[in-house]
Amino acid sequence: TDLQKYVDELPQMPKIRGYGIWQGFPVPIKLTIGMYHKTWQFHRDMPPTPVFVYGQSLESATFPGPTIVARQNVPLFVQWENHLPDAHILPWDPNVDTAKPNKTGVPTVVHLHGGAHPPESDGSAFAWFTADFREKGPAWTQTTYWYPNVQAPGNLWYHDHALGLTRVSLLAGLLAAYIIEKPDLETPMNLPCDAHDLHLVIADRTFYTNGSISIDRQWKPEYFGEVITVNGKAWPFVNVQRRRYRLRILNASNARYFNITLSNGTLTLPFHVIGTDGTYLSKPVTVSNLVLSTAEIFDVIVDFSLLPPTTGWIEMLNSAPYPFPNGSNQTDPQVDGKVMKFVVKALNGTLDNDMPDNSKVPEHGVPYASVTALPPPTMTRIITLFEHFNNDSLKTTHHLDINKLGLRDPATEKPKSGTTELWQVINLTGDNHPLHLHLATFQAIKMQELNDSETFTTCMNDKNNTVTCKLDTHLVGREILVPEHEKTWKNVVKLPPMAVTWVVVAFRLAETNQPYPFDATTYPGYVYHCHILDHEDNAMIRPLIMTW
Ligand code: C2O
Ligand code: CU
Repeated sequence: TDLQKYVDELPQMPKIRGYGIWQGFPVPIKLTIGMYHKTWQFHRDMPPTPVFVYGQSLESATFPGPTIVARQNVPLFVQWENHLPDAHILPWDPNVDTAKPNKTGVPTVVHLHGGAHPPESDGSAFAWFTADFREKGPAWTQTTYWYPNVQAPGNLWYHDHALGLTRVSLLAGLLAAYIIEKPDLETPMNLPCDAHDLHLVIADRTFYTNGSISIDRQWKPEYFGEVITVNGKAWPFVNVQRRRYRLRILNASNARYFNITLSNGTLTLPFHVIGTDGTYLSKPVTVSNLVLSTAEIFDVIVDFSLLPPTTGWIEMLNSAPYPFPNGSNQTDPQVDGKVMKFVVKALNGTLDNDMPDNSKVPEHGVPYASVTALPPPTMTRIITLFEHFNNDSLKTTHHLDINKLGLRDPATEKPKSGTTELWQVINLTGDNHPLHLHLATFQAIKMQELNDSETFTTCMNDKNNTVTCKLDTHLVGREILVPEHEKTWKNVVKLPPMAVTWVVVAFRLAETNQPYPFDATTYPGYVYHCHILDHEDNAMIRPLIMTW
C-alpha cells in the first residue's frame, strides 16, 4: 500500500466518566451508549470508510469507541443500544454458526473484556439483540448491564460478542477501551498522567480503494490487514515532549500478533512495563520489545527524554511473523513493520519548559496476591486445542476447537465460584493462541514443549476427547520461560504451539483474594475461548458455568 505514513495525528478517543460525583464522592450512574453506522477517516488520503462504532451519539461515535473511565467499587450501569442498519456493512459466512434474526437487523451484544460481573451482564454470544431490541437472542435477559467494578484497577476493553459475528463486527469498529481507576492506590505511584497518559489501540485492516474495509465472505483461519491503524488512524504520528509517558497499548486486531520495539534505526528506547491486562505488576519490568497477542494489553512507561538532543523522533516498529510465531509471512519493514511515530518536540518554548517531569517509573508495583497466596487449586483440568483441516473443497469444514467441542455442546467446565483451578492447556496446533476466560483472571506458571507432538496428537485423537494419554512421557521437551512482565493476573495468556501451558485460574478477585461479591452462577453463564476472532467464531469457544 502506498499510503504516506505519519501524516495523520494520533487522536485520543473521547473519555466518558463512568461514575457521578455527589458531595465530592463518586457515585453510581447509568450511561447510554449506542452502536452507530457512520463513516470514519482512517487516513488523510483515503476516502471515508463505512464503520460500526460505539458512542453516546451518532456525532460523537468514534473508531475505536469512547474510553470509559470507571472507579473501583463504584458500580456502573450501561444501557447498550443498537442503532445499526438492517444489514451488516461487511460480509459474513452463512456456513459459520451465526446469530440470525428472523427479520432484518445486525445482532450485537457487548462484552466488557476483563470485567468481573454477573453472567446477565457478560454479553453472552446468545444474548444478542438487533436495533431497538426488536429481536433478541435466546439468552437475552436485560437491556441494562451492571458492572460492579469490584476488581483491581487496570486496563480492560469492551467489544462486540455476537455469535459468529465477533470477527466481522470488531473489524467494523465495535471495540473500545475501559479503565478502572483507584486513586488512593494510583496517585502515590506518580505515574505520567493526563496529557502524558496515552491509549494506543492497534488494529490492522485492509481497505478497498473506495475506502471500505475488506474481508472475504468465506471464513478464513486468520484475518491479516496490511494497514496498521492506531486509534483509528493509519500509521499516525504523535507529538511528545522530552519526558516520560504512560502508554496503554491494546492489540485489538482480529488475528495479528505484534512484536513491537521503539527505534530510530540506531537507538532503541526501552519499555518499563508497569502492568498488563487488568492488573499492575508487583514490580515494573524493563524490556526492549513486547509481544502482544490479540486482546492483550501492556501498560508501559517510556522516557522520551533519553533520546539524544539531535534526535527528533522515534518509530514503533513491528516484527511479528504471521500467523505467530511460525507463519510463513514476515512483516514488510515499509508496511506492516511500521506502527506509528513519536515526534519529539524540543524543549525550547516556555510552554514545554514550565512543566517539569515529576513522574517516575515506580520502584514497586502493586503487590497482588501471588499464585501461592491464593487457595490451592481444587481441580486440575486438561484443555486441548485442535485445528481440523478440510480435505475436500468445502472449506467450511476447516475449523478449530477446544476438546473437540463447540459452544453449543454442554458445559464441561463448571468451576466452583471462589476457588482456584489448575488448567493444563495443550496446544496441538502449529500457532500460538491467546486463551481468554470471562470473569476469571489467570496466569501461566509453566510452559513446556511436547517432545513428540505427533504421537501425542494421534493419541489424543484416538481417545476421542477422554484425555488419558500419558502426558509425562511426552514432556521431556524444552521448557519455555514465562516472561517476567507477564507474571500477574491476566485476562489473556499466550499459548505456544505444540506445547503445554499450566495456567492457574482464579475464580475469585485476585487483588483482595476474596470471592466475588455477586452471584456468578446464574444464567446464561460465561465462556472461555481463543481470542483470535476468526478462531473464536469457528469454534474455539466453550461455555464456562460457575457453580456453588
Ligand atoms: Cu475479549 Cu470473550 O472476549
Ligand atoms: Cu486460536
